[in-house]
Amino acid sequence: MFFMFDTLEGYIQPGTVEAELVQQVDFSRLPVHVAIIMDGNGRWARQRNLPRTEGHKAGSESVKEAVEAAARLGIKYLTLYAFSKENWKRPKDEVNTLWSLLKKYLAEESKVLLENDLKLKVIGERTGIPYLVRRELARVERLTRNNKRMTVILALNYGGRQEILRAIKKMIRRKSRTEEVDENLFSRYLDTAGLPDPDLLIRTSGEMRLSNFLLWQCAYTELWVTPVLWPDFRRRDLLQAIVDYQKRERRFGGLESAANNHRS
Ligand code: FPP
Repeated sequence: MFFMFDTLEGYIQPGTVEAELVQQVDFSRLPVHVAIIMDGNGRWARQRNLPRTEGHKAGSESVKEAVEAAARLGIKYLTLYAFSKENWKRPKDEVNTLWSLLKKYLAEESKVLLENDLKLKVIGERTGIPYLVRRELARVERLTRNNKRMTVILALNYGGRQEILRAIKKMIRRKSRTEEVDENLFSRYLDTAGLPDPDLLIRTSGEMRLSNFLLWQCAYTELWVTPVLWPDFRRRDLLQAIVDYQKRERRFGGLESAANNHRS
């Protein structure tokens, strides 16, 4: 069964906390790009005396909810930190579970992405990704490449510093001239070339760190940290993050609200 992510109608029940939050959202000022550090799967499992892999399984359900909620709200780009360079240091069994969950997600959700006009994009170092997962990723990226409603960006085998170094190496190989190197040009060599920087970065499970995620791109991003563990993350948490984000004044280093100036 595939279902359409229509509007918020029928998705948000009247009289609930979610409905109250929706009332507070200014839909003309939504963050264009939301990035999420999905953390706390292990702790969620430990609290229930379950193996860590069960936390990751529950975490993939939260991924589905976050994608649907973001699309319905009208977010244009959603980036999820699904596997970091550092995640390879975990026990083999856990690493294998993470990749096989991703493969399962792609197999199950590719039709949902397609039917809801969602595009999949991968950032990170593809060569290190297990072959079968890589093949599935390429298939879904190809399948959804013309979709327009929202782009789901999966950060896989990703590290911010490594991405910056890869960009520098590419620039050297292409013999960029010193005088032409500026922020704009450099951004075009990053994995995120062509994507706007995140407006809002959400991190679950209370940690106050960037953990090597989108280091260049998050220069002016608003950070929102919640104690909620990723497997417990629901549409209400995304709504709360957006409501809080909209209460903030983004100055981009200037003196007054400069969101529009910066983007022009
Ligand atoms: C952090 O929890 C989460 C991860 C390392 C991976 C995130 C992966 C998923 C949500 C599942 C698969 C992804 C997709 C896109 C279907 P942690 O293990 O670091 O938690 P802890 O800090 O409590 O130990």
